[in-house]
Amino acid sequence: MYNFMFHVPTKIYFGKGQISHLEELKESGRSVLLVYGGGSIKRSGIYNTALQILKDVDLQVFELPGVEPNPRIETVRKGVTMCKNEDIDMVLAIGGGSTIDCAKVVAAGAKYDGDPWDLVLDGSLVKDALPIYTVLTLAATGSEMDCFAVISDLTKNEKWGTGSEYMKPTMSVLDPTYTYTVSPKQTAAGTADMMSHTFENYFTKQEGYLQARFCESLLETMIHYGPIALEKPDDYEARANLMWAGSHAINGLVSEGSADAWCVHPMEHELSAFYDITHGQGLAILTPVWMEYVLSEETLPRFKEYGVNVWHLDPNQDAMQIAKQAIEKTREFFFTTMKMPANLRAVGITDDRYFKKMAEKAAAGSKGSYVPLQPADIEEIYRRAL
Ligand code: NZQ
Ligand code: ZN
Repeated sequence: MYNFMFHVPTKIYFGKGQISHLEELKESGRSVLLVYGGGSIKRSGIYNTALQILKDVDLQVFELPGVEPNPRIETVRKGVTMCKNEDIDMVLAIGGGSTIDCAKVVAAGAKYDGDPWDLVLDGSLVKDALPIYTVLTLAATGSEMDCFAVISDLTKNEKWGTGSEYMKPTMSVLDPTYTYTVSPKQTAAGTADMMSHTFENYFTKQEGYLQARFCESLLETMIHYGPIALEKPDDYEARANLMWAGSHAINGLVSEGSADAWCVHPMEHELSAFYDITHGQGLAILTPVWMEYVLSEETLPRFKEYGVNVWHLDPNQDAMQIAKQAIEKTREFFFTTMKMPANLRAVGITDDRYFKKMAEKAAAGSKGSYVPLQPADIEEIYRRAL
């Protein structure tokens, strides 16, 4: 296990009714930019509840609605301009990962003199940010408790992740009942996303024993509760376990101590950058193909552990058999149990004309990953996923 610094300053209020703690925003000033998406928070009533609480503590509220899934830099720029012009004290994101990511870069951009796209390309330029508060409505990205934000400039087919200690939220409200209204498509995509975060940390050569066991527990939890949430959207235990597992898959708990770069995420970000697809769907399509591609005598021990400890396959079988069965189980889980689109064609990607360009960018973004991938390897993975 390598040396590491683990620091999560985010205060979490978890459970039913915890939104009342939004009154604590008054500790950060007198005005707030409320950031939200396409309207789900209005339909569910969270918007009205939040506004009332903010009003009760005399906060002046400005609004940035309409954050897109795969949030755009144009929306971030709009928010930054509002924060600067109105001298806003803090941001409050209510929504999924897209809304939270947008709010994070708005908060950092408000304290930066140049164009916020600079901060997307280089997180080290973030030297300060307005306090960031979140109310999570979709269990998936872990943005509510991590330092990352992923922003797109679709005019240039660019989608990049950035990160900074300053972008870790001050406080996040995690009320599982707020995720009851999440659609089957987004429930499945969210489960696939948090599983992928866990895989990215689990399939590594330099990891701690404990981190690997944490990963297995997270995966078991997601595999157990994902289908229950799909079947019964208002199952509290299912929604609660998914929500808390999603936060831990990316808040540093399972990544600190290892050194490998992620690789399936950079590959997926190119799919979203060129085709604007749903992040979790792209990950589910790529993951089993990537697993097959990197399975070798060298990676076999970890795949065997995955099969035995996560899927409870018979440990007395031949190791390669176990590994292949584990990959098949992963495929079945995403495409049969969770009913997700099984290949790129099913999400509207029907030709390979951008694959070469996408593969070059993804290879640059995944340098140092578990099994090093050259652009030609990534292009082949895209082709097999088609
Ligand atoms: O926009 P609204 O109307 O709110 O609807 C959203 C959106 O259409 C809807 N939704 C959210 N909560 C809902 C709900 N619908 C009904 N009931 C609710 N309670 O779901 C749709 C998708 O929302 P979005 O925020 O886009 O989903 P998600 O949370 O999966 O976020 C995806 C984005 O996060 C990035 C992805 O690349 C993508 O851009 N990621 C962020 C990461 C991070 N910050 O650490 C890491 C991830 O790997 C990921 O890359
Ligand atoms: Zn992800």
